[in-house]
Amino acid sequence: MLADILVRYIHFLSLAVVFAALIGQHVLLKGTVPRSTVALVQRFDLAYAIAVIAVLATGLLQWFSGSKPAAFYSSNPVFHTKLTLFLAIGLVSIYPSVFFGKHRKGDPAELVEIPKGIVWSVRIELLLLALMPLLAVLMAKGLGIPLAKP
Ligand code: HEM
Repeated sequence: MLADILVRYIHFLSLAVVFAALIGQHVLLKGTVPRSTVALVQRFDLAYAIAVIAVLATGLLQWFSGSKPAAFYSSNPVFHTKLTLFLAIGLVSIYPSVFFGKHRKGDPAELVEIPKGIVWSVRIELLLLALMPLLAVLMAKGLGIPLAKP
């Protein structure tokens, strides 16, 4: 019981870090910023990556060794959609992460132009992420599980 509560708590805590890191990046990313800002955004990106790993680990723990049988989730297309969105968010995050890693080193005062594609990638991640809690609540209630054929 305690382990379940702890895993769930870490699932939520790491989700909060994922949201905060992306919102922080979105606030800081303007057309042209000093390299010091890119370095700061990259630190948010590191926090984001660590939190995503924690979300995935606690998600898998809840799925395979939580209070409900794994089949409760494995058979639910809502859960499949949640996992697909999670994967999509991960894929969309690659381009910005590579950009931040490439442009963080050098003269901190030098100005760096932020491509529109980077800003839009972070925005798309945030939009997809905003859908996840809805899918999570639906799947936790078992909504979406196909009804057994009579
Ligand atoms: C950014 C991604 C994610 C978000 C926003 C998210 C959100 C949530 C939320 C809000 C809940 C609580 C639902 C409730 O009790 O009503 C939850 C539970 C859960 N999540 Fe996630 N989650 C994410 C990623 C994942 C991943 C990647 C997995 C699986 C690998 C996962 C598996 C689970 C499981 C199994 C539960 C327990 C549901 C239950 O109590 O029956 N989650 N998640």
